[in-house]
Amino acid sequence: MTPTLLFQFIGTLAILVVLVLAWTAVRSWLRGRRPVQAPAPALVRVRRVVDEATDIKSFELVSADGSALPAWSAGAHIDVRIDDKTVRQYSLCGAPGTRDAYLIAVKNAPDSRGGSRTMHQSVSVGDTLVISGPRNHFALVDGARHYLLIAGGIGITPLLAMARELQTRGASYELHYFVRSSAATAFRELLSSEPYAGKVTFHHTGADRSREQLRPLLGKCPQGHHLYMCGPRGFTDLIGELTAGIWPPEAIHVEYFSADSAALAAPGQAFEVKLQRSGRTIPVPAGSSIVDTLCAHGIDVATSCREGVCGTCLTGVIAGTPDHRDAFLSAKERTAGDKIMICVSRAKSEQLVLDL
Ligand code: FES
Repeated sequence: MTPTLLFQFIGTLAILVVLVLAWTAVRSWLRGRRPVQAPAPALVRVRRVVDEATDIKSFELVSADGSALPAWSAGAHIDVRIDDKTVRQYSLCGAPGTRDAYLIAVKNAPDSRGGSRTMHQSVSVGDTLVISGPRNHFALVDGARHYLLIAGGIGITPLLAMARELQTRGASYELHYFVRSSAATAFRELLSSEPYAGKVTFHHTGADRSREQLRPLLGKCPQGHHLYMCGPRGFTDLIGELTAGIWPPEAIHVEYFSADSAALAAPGQAFEVKLQRSGRTIPVPAGSSIVDTLCAHGIDVATSCREGVCGTCLTGVIAGTPDHRDAFLSAKERTAGDKIMICVSRAKSEQLVLDL
């Protein structure tokens, strides 16, 4: 090869290397800008509204175009867009696998942040709603010897779907429904009838008597039993206290429908996040969440509840120590430290490297 040809060959090779490196950098930057995939929205029509109990209504939703809705399993929830600024999560409580309609139940609580009140006062038969999901972070494990389901108040909704599913499977289960009165008991007629009658126990009791009624249920954890619970924060915290040291963490499954207000109110220091895919480093001020900070820098991340409850903003942690403030990750996941809910959680280390 002549010196001229050799120089031309080296020059071409150098240009190719530069182009490849440039494309890699651009692609990495683009990936860093790309919003996290959110579940596809769907338009549904309200087919039926039923007063299930004091302050509780159920809504039966069908696809607006008559098509089958996405498949789902017991424990799943959907997001319901209440208005431009409000999205709420509701557990599906119909028969799992049913795709012609979704059933949700909504409690109009006095401390509602507005979504439930709107559902009660402004949504009626024939209205259309935008939903997304279903997503399931509270699924039944397969093959347990026995399933112990404990609901507090409106926490009955995912557990009703589980009871339906376990009944269909022919699995061994029992459902304990703690609720303040008979009038406040949703789905009372269904749960009092066959095939549920022998499996469901109603505990019409105030918070002060819950402890004494829960204690005998939770005093031991026979081999192969799994506990599923859903209810107000104080109720699930009480069950956590009564099962501590008795039930192995992997046998306990909980779904919260409200954030841990104490964790959210805890002071937080400034830190920085490094986005692994783009290499960008962004300071997060003391008074701002990771999500809000990323948004202010033009980086879109899928969110829904923005309270650390729904799981939408789950993000991988590559380095650094998260300061978990959500009500979504399990104790085991928190200890592993490789995931974070970036709508509420922060960092204990000076920097967090995120899989974004
Ligand atoms: Fe719901 Fe973060 S947006 S957990």
